[in-house]
Parts: sequence; structure tokens; C-alpha cells
Amino acid sequence: MSDNATKEALSGHKKLERNVTLLGAAALVTVAIGGIVEIAPLFWIDNTIEQVEGMRPYTPLEQAGRDIYVREGCYTCHSQMIRPFKDEVERYGHYSLAAESMYDHPFQWGSKRTGPDLARVGGRYSDEWHVQHLANPQSVVPESVMPQYGFLSDEPLEFEYIADNLVALSRVGVPYTEADIEQARQDVIGQADPDVAPGDLAERYPGAQSRDYDGDPDRITEMDALVAYLQVLGTMVDVNAAAAQEVLAGESGR
Ligand code: HEC
Repeated sequence: MSDNATKEALSGHKKLERNVTLLGAAALVTVAIGGIVEIAPLFWIDNTIEQVEGMRPYTPLEQAGRDIYVREGCYTCHSQMIRPFKDEVERYGHYSLAAESMYDHPFQWGSKRTGPDLARVGGRYSDEWHVQHLANPQSVVPESVMPQYGFLSDEPLEFEYIADNLVALSRVGVPYTEADIEQARQDVIGQADPDVAPGDLAERYPGAQSRDYDGDPDRITEMDALVAYLQVLGTMVDVNAAAAQEVLAGESGR
């Protein structure tokens, strides 16, 4: 650049720096370009989350348990996201896939680990272990700082409006069907009450397990719902198969 051209460019910039409206407008344009480049493609590619086999929405009972998990603030001490690092994978299992939280509203990835990550806690312990641990964590892990949640066994689960819950979730993209919504209340009973047949629950929610979760078959409590939720965490996807799919998808440049 010649000296003259440099001078001209600099004086143009001087104008920009001294006029706050102009500077604001120019900054907005610059930031908008960055925003469009980063965000706009997400609206046009069909799916930003890799579909993986096995993912299904939570059953109404599991969803009710999830709401209790959020209500009790379990996320203030527990994350639900295993990062792809050796130490995490060795301790907690296969790293979390994006698709595994695609039906979570709000997601529970968390940022605090006073207790261990729970993304794959499903099936790791028995129902009895969970009930005892929740009621009195110190009876299982003497030095535990986890609070006691025994009262959940005394609280009957309120699920009169569980169908509305599913409707709300379906509005934000969780694929509950008409049948799921219509039968939501019956599904809670069918999954948690060992004396009631679960009907076609396992067909609509593949892999859903029906049993008495809290050790008291006579009533459905908040403990039933919470344990049903904990027991399904991280169990829906056959992770190794899904990861293989992800790797393949990555290699083919999708
Ligand atoms: C004040 C922090 C804190 C809160 C709140 C908390 N926990 Fe914990 N949790 C811990 C700690 C610490 C441990 C590890 C020691 C133990 O097992 O008790 C733990 C362990 C666990 C485990 C065993 C995990 C494993 O892999 O061994 C489960 C399951 C669990 N918590 C569930 C819950 C649920 C459900 C809630 C909410 C109802 C909750 N926690 C609330 C701190 C907390």
C-alpha cells in the first residue's frame, strides 16, 4: 500500500471510531455476519443430532421421576454427562452421546460433581440399593454428604395431570403419540403396580420395565418414580453400536 492509501484508510477508521452510532452499526454488522455463519446452517440441516437406535421418550413414570429429580435439586451435586476422557470413561462407562439427552427438557448435563456422574447409573445397582441409599446414603457410604430422601417413600406420587406433562413435552419435540398421551395415567399404574398388567407399555416404550420399584407394592410413591428414572439412565442406547455408527458417519463426512 502506498503512503497515501494508508492515510486514507486510517482517516476512514478515525471517522468510525469517533461516531458512536456508526461504530455501533458497523459492530452489529460484523457480529451479525459471524452469527449467521455459525447459527444459520443449523436451521437447514435436517438434524443436528445424530439419530441413534434405541432412544425413546421416557415413560410417564420415568418422566415423573425425572421431575422429582429436578425438584429435589439432585443436579446441584450430580452431572449426567460423561466426557470422552479416559478417566471418565473408565469410571462411569462409555462417554455420553448427544442423542442420549435429545428428549431431556431441561437437560441435566450439569456442571457440579459433588457426587458421581449419573448418566449411566441405570442397572448398576438394585432397586433395593437405591431405596436404601436414597433413604440413608450414610448407611451405604458412611462418609457420604448426600442428604436423606426417605420421605419420598411416604409421598404418594401425584400423576393426575401426567398427560398434560406429555403434551407439553410433545410441543417441544418429544415424539409422544396420541396413544401415549391418552394412556399416560394408566401407564404409570401399569409400570409401577405389580398387580396391574402393563398392557402394551413395552411396545410403545421399548425396553420399559414394569415392577414395584420402592419395595411397597401397595401404593405408587415418589420413590417408585425416582428409582424407575434412575434405573433407565444410560440404558436405552446400545452405546457401542451407536458409537460405531457415529464414527462411520464422521468418516463419510456427514
Ligand atoms: C449435597 C450433594 C448431593 C445431593 C443434593 C444429592 N447427592 Fe447423590 N450423591 C452425593 C455423593 C457425595 C455421592 C457419593 C457417596 C454416596 O454414594 O452416597 C452420591 C451418590 C449418589 C448415587 C450413587 C451413584 C454411584 O454411581 O455410586 C446416586 C444414585 C445418587 N447419589 C442419587 C441422587 C439423587 C437421585 C439425588 C436427588 C434426590 C441426589 N443424589 C442428591 C451427593 C449428593
